[in-house]
Amino acid sequence: MAAAGSVTFTSLAFLLLLSPLFVSAQVDTSAGDDLVGAIINHCCLKKFYYALQISRIELRLRDSANRGPITVFAPTDDSITKLDPELWTCVTTGQGPLDILSQITLYHFVTDGNFTAAEVATKRHLTSASGMPLGVKVVNGNVMLEDYAPITEPNALRTSNATVHLIGELLVPETIVSTIENLCFAGPASAPAPSK
Ligand SMILES: *[C@@H]1O[C@H](CO)[C@@H](O)[C@H](O)[C@H]1NC(C)=O
Ligand SMILES: *[C@@H]1O[C@H](CO)[C@@H](O)[C@H](O)[C@H]1NC(C)=O
Repeated sequence: MAAAGSVTFTSLAFLLLLSPLFVSAQVDTSAGDDLVGAIINHCCLKKFYYALQISRIELRLRDSANRGPITVFAPTDDSITKLDPELWTCVTTGQGPLDILSQITLYHFVTDGNFTAAEVATKRHLTSASGMPLGVKVVNGNVMLEDYAPITEPNALRTSNATVHLIGELLVPETIVSTIENLCFAGPASAPAPSK
């Protein structure tokens, strides 16, 4: 009896010991790592990656790709550089709560498919990882998100489970625009993104 019990205990302990190793071994070559690695290595997504890191959404992005196909709309460094620098400083340095930046970063990916630009173009809207809808329009053959953010380089990165399109504007959920204005400019001074 005692011997059988101790064998069972040993096997269980062995399994418990092994499973985290097995999981971490999988994580090493996961879709999330492929995706984040591709973003890090891209010439022109340094600011987007920085925003993912400090908003603590990087982990969520990795996780989403590990769970299944996702689509990322990645704003290029140029699209962020051309913003009012006060705005970017405000949302990334903690003058604005972390929550603001995470709502922005979560607005840049969808977790229900790794869509090509052609597939995106067939949709009226997508649901971003923040839960907010992301409107889609095709204007003169170009796919536009929320009427102001064009896909500038479709299908720029394809990694396991993820497709990344470069976009020419930072996407800011309309619902937080006035909060940002109040936080960063103490009133509606300059809009963070062209509104609809
Ligand atoms: C891709 O997503 C599937 C679920 O659709 C998952 O089982 C698989 O592990 C993911 N691929 C990688 C490389 O993480
Ligand atoms: C979507 O991901 C699957 C593997 O998870 C891959 O076979 C397929 O080519 C991907 N499609 C796109 C458009 O990246």
